[in-house]
Amino acid sequence: MFKTSTKVFEDRREIFLKKLNGRAAIIPSSNLVKHHADCEYPFRQDSNFWYLTGFDEPDSIALFLSNKPKGERYILFVAPKDIISEVWHGFRWGIEGAEREFKADKAHSINDFKHLLPAYIGDSEEIVYSIGKNSKIEKIVLDIFSRQLEARSRVGIGANSIKSPEIYLNEMRLIKSDFEINRMREATKISAEAHELVRKSISSKHNERQIQGLIEGFFLEKGARGPAYNSIVASGDNACILHYTSNNSDLTDGDLLLVDAGCSLIDYYNGDITRTIPIGGKFSREQKLIYEIVLEAQKTAIKKSVKGSTSTNVHNAALRILVEGLREIGLLRGDTNQIIEQGLYKHLYMHRTGHWLGLDVHDVGAYRMGEYDIPLQNGMILTVEPGIYISDRIPVPEGQPSIDQKWKGIGIRIEDDILVNETEPEILSIGAKKEISDLEF
Ligand code: GLY
Ligand code: MN
Ligand code: MN
Repeated sequence: MFKTSTKVFEDRREIFLKKLNGRAAIIPSSNLVKHHADCEYPFRQDSNFWYLTGFDEPDSIALFLSNKPKGERYILFVAPKDIISEVWHGFRWGIEGAEREFKADKAHSINDFKHLLPAYIGDSEEIVYSIGKNSKIEKIVLDIFSRQLEARSRVGIGANSIKSPEIYLNEMRLIKSDFEINRMREATKISAEAHELVRKSISSKHNERQIQGLIEGFFLEKGARGPAYNSIVASGDNACILHYTSNNSDLTDGDLLLVDAGCSLIDYYNGDITRTIPIGGKFSREQKLIYEIVLEAQKTAIKKSVKGSTSTNVHNAALRILVEGLREIGLLRGDTNQIIEQGLYKHLYMHRTGHWLGLDVHDVGAYRMGEYDIPLQNGMILTVEPGIYISDRIPVPEGQPSIDQKWKGIGIRIEDDILVNETEPEILSIGAKKEISDLEF
């Protein structure tokens, strides 16, 4: 069973406990999810639980008691050792392992959670718990909370409200530590190498599925847990379906292949890279024109991914180049500002230009507070991923040019993972080539 340095997690718990400022936080793990009869989906730990514990088992709960003295603040409830279960399902650390190896101040069996929780949280003013994610644990927490609320009117202590842990954790997770930046370098390096492998072997492949196999096999070979999300391997018009994951069409010479894939490391740090390459080794005139627009938009947006800028600036920078480029080749008509303000480009570009990246692929953290855009800071990691998708699925807005057949079926996205630095943005996924001269053969 995987285990990483405990120090990283100890430091995070220290900060989290400080932020809790007297509150009691209950953070459950993920559970196994049934796929079909007697079979489960691969286990994926809850990112917040992982971030604070480094404990990679289901059926666990971490309890943080920030009003207690040191040595009594971090309680783990875990699946107890059970030889028969372990023979069927694999090793567990058990109660002793949770204390010894994962530094819980105290560990208990998960089966004791219900009856031990009231005493643990009885004198906390507020409970920190994420509502709506785990119905079984939520029922226990809410039952105890409502009983304590009732008692509070008589005994004068107990929780009187529930707050979301995201208030404390999102902010922490948004700014990556040096340790996390190194892990993200590793995740993006492996992901970029997988894209290079695709680029170099495309001429010998004839179906999208083979490309998926190549990429995901490479992730495993490199020791990653697997793909960070369902790999998108979309040739030709399939690329115009943003979350295409069937990955089972034959490849056609003359079409483009859009691959959006990244690995998830064993400790859940993720890459998220998209490259679009010519299957037969040469871009057509139309494909090249669109590719050049997207690439210029992406490079311009990356330059905006600097300290003090905002994700809105990054998006707007890309959008302006895309709209101007599309106007020049006659796929949009009118004044650039008006096209942008009225959203008249949305049949060709229908998503935002990026998102935070980390333990979640669409990582936690605010992009804005109401009208106020959060400024980019050192240690933030974001994707920059403009695209153009030309099909007749979305009707052309009134007043905009109809689309000539020669453009249809072109779907291009270019996505890199960017670390915001004191100086230049660092392109973590730089290893995956994207210049036309590198993609043609
Ligand atoms: N692969 C998901 C995304 O690019 O957001
Ligand atoms: Mn992305
Ligand atoms: Mn992606």
